[in-house]
Amino acid sequence: MCSWLKKSASSMRLLGFIVPLMVVFGLVVLLGPSSSNWPFVSNYYPWTWSSVSNYNLHGSAAPPLDIDVREAEPSVENKKDGSIITTDASNFAPPPNATKVLPSTPRINGRFSNLQILEAKLQRVRAAIRGAQNGNGISDPDYIPTGSIYWNPSAFHRSYLEMEKQFKVFVYEEGEQPIFHNGPCGRIYAIEGNFIYKLEISKFRTRNPKKAHVYFLPFSVAYIVRFIYDRNLHNHWLPMKQIIKDYVDLVAGKYPYWNRSLGSDHFMLSCHDWGPRLSKSRPELFKNSIRALCNANTSEGFQPSKDVSIPEIKMPRRHTKGLIGDPSSSKRPILAFFAGGLHGPIRPILLEHWENKDPDVQVHKYVPEGVSYSAMMTKSKYCICPSGYEVASPRIVESLYTGCVPVLIKDHYVPPFSDVLNWKSFSVEIPVQEIPNLKKILLGISTRQYIRMQRRGATVRRHFEVNLPPKRYDVFHMILHSIWLRRLNLRLHGVEDS
Ligand SMILES: *[C@@H]1O[C@H](CO)[C@@H](O)[C@H](O)[C@H]1NC(C)=O
Ligand SMILES: *[C@@H]1O[C@H](CO)[C@@H](O)[C@H](O)[C@H]1NC(C)=O
Ligand SMILES: *[C@@H]1O[C@H](CO)[C@@H](O)[C@H](O)[C@H]1NC(C)=O
Repeated sequence: MCSWLKKSASSMRLLGFIVPLMVVFGLVVLLGPSSSNWPFVSNYYPWTWSSVSNYNLHGSAAPPLDIDVREAEPSVENKKDGSIITTDASNFAPPPNATKVLPSTPRINGRFSNLQILEAKLQRVRAAIRGAQNGNGISDPDYIPTGSIYWNPSAFHRSYLEMEKQFKVFVYEEGEQPIFHNGPCGRIYAIEGNFIYKLEISKFRTRNPKKAHVYFLPFSVAYIVRFIYDRNLHNHWLPMKQIIKDYVDLVAGKYPYWNRSLGSDHFMLSCHDWGPRLSKSRPELFKNSIRALCNANTSEGFQPSKDVSIPEIKMPRRHTKGLIGDPSSSKRPILAFFAGGLHGPIRPILLEHWENKDPDVQVHKYVPEGVSYSAMMTKSKYCICPSGYEVASPRIVESLYTGCVPVLIKDHYVPPFSDVLNWKSFSVEIPVQEIPNLKKILLGISTRQYIRMQRRGATVRRHFEVNLPPKRYDVFHMILHSIWLRRLNLRLHGVEDS
């Protein structure tokens, strides 16, 4: 466990409580955008830009969830236990529009259910964010996002403030350490432990599951791998998958929330390379739930409209103090820099074309003797961030920390927080087939444009900083915000009888 949080975390382990028997009928509507493969062009506030009545739930732009759930859960199976769990849009009217605050589901004994009240509030939040797209006069003591690094700074600001006011996360209390309620706090998967600990003691956590917008499955994939993985087993995936499956079965049997939405308002978080694969332990976890992943590889089933891309942040000393350097753009004699292992298909191509070819483009398998890696980054204008075996790498954040403009050479990658951040404004994206033209492309960027990108990188890095305790707009809050946004894109209709 993270030593800096030991005391507070252990005092948080409270006993469970009794969940009343509930008969739950759920309907899930995904309000998300039709999925787009490249995040730079998609927008994540579909209800912000278009009138709600335009939701095309019947037409060709069916949300991915619609298709997935129908495939995963044939309707026969749904009928078996008497619930109407379906995302088949043709079965019910389109969602009410923004001016109509109350959900359309029936009341019980003249009272609104918890879910109806919660959804009604979310509906007001959507309207508020939509109203804020052209600026909201709300003052913010700390920081007001502005400028072109955001798709829409005002909408983001408003949804961030609404998150601070309203967002409630229920963390299932079941599960024992070291695999649950625990995670690494140092090195490259540090974000797993960091997030779990910080969430468990944060004001966003609620102990009342009826008040929650989302439900967190508090396991660490990095620790499942550390404690369960046995390379000698014939099928070494099986025990690791079983842990996750058993956990979901446990909470789905004990509480009504998983079945109500088939996991759509549940989330998991993993930075480990095997996170995407282990999320397949339960088909609904993979297809419906919000998966916050470092390896946001769209070819591995990452769906930008429901999943969340989180940054991989290497923390040698369990915090990022001292890693964040001078962002100045002068005194950067090297045009581009890369040093790293040869794994994955992209790096060999990069080395083949650029290793020891050109003093302006410093590409190495290993950092040259007597040279520090971070010193090279602070001396370079551009830092090359190619995929390895996996799409995620800590290089992107290291580049931002050291004031080096990241050059992404990654297929199928959705960069972190691209729901609110316009990565094109502070990074360069180079397709794999353009690697031979790398120098030409970088030299084609004017000094003026370079300085602009570099300054924006210095502004945006606050969203990638790790703080203890967390600070507003830092990486902890940005991850939560991305999850909040996915929840806003989902509408649950339910009748609870409690
Ligand atoms: C909302 O619904 C009402 C009645 O159902 C309708 O009159 C109104 O035009 C709708 N508003 C929008 C923005 O679609
Ligand atoms: C949820 O569904 C599963 C199987 O479909 C069932 O075994 C479980 O009891 C249900 N949970 C609740 C709380 O009703
Ligand atoms: C992404 O996913 C695809 C499909 O599984 C895989 O071939 C590829 O190696 C993954 N990683 C990267 C870095 O592209």
